[in-house]
Amino acid sequence: MTLRRCLVLATVLAGPDGPSTAVLGQNLVAEGETLFRARCAACHSLEPGQSRIGPALAGLAGRTAGIVEGARYSSALRDSGLVWNAETLEAFLANPREAVPGTPNR
Ligand code: HEC
Repeated sequence: MTLRRCLVLATVLAGPDGPSTAVLGQNLVAEGETLFRARCAACHSLEPGQSRIGPALAGLAGRTAGIVEGARYSSALRDSGLVWNAETLEAFLANPREAVPGTPNR
């Protein structure tokens, strides 16, 4: 896993307050936020209840895929049975359509 993807994962899995600066250090936390803003925030929010083109990502760690109330999902993702953690998220971000055949291209 590249450092950049690792930082995106840390940012997304940590939720609205972000990853611990005691663990990652201020610079890497800031870099993760920048990467999230550049690559994900057009479609996703880290705040609860704020689904955009993609579902809100707050509370993602340990959550079953496809269950955010009011978000629009493909049936492929809704029926995937995935539970989000560093491993499943890494595989999904690396190749969404291989991890979840039938999820929209993006
Ligand atoms: C162009 C818009 C777009 C971008 C950019 C985008 N996503 Fe998504 N994302 C979506 C859509 C749409 C879905 C729903 C897919 C489905 O239902 O098959 C989704 C689904 C997800 C899910 C599953 C959520 C759930 O509740 O099961 C995760 C996790 C996710 N995206 C993470 C990311 C991350 C992290 C990034 C940045 C690296 C990112 N996405 C970038 C549109 C986007």
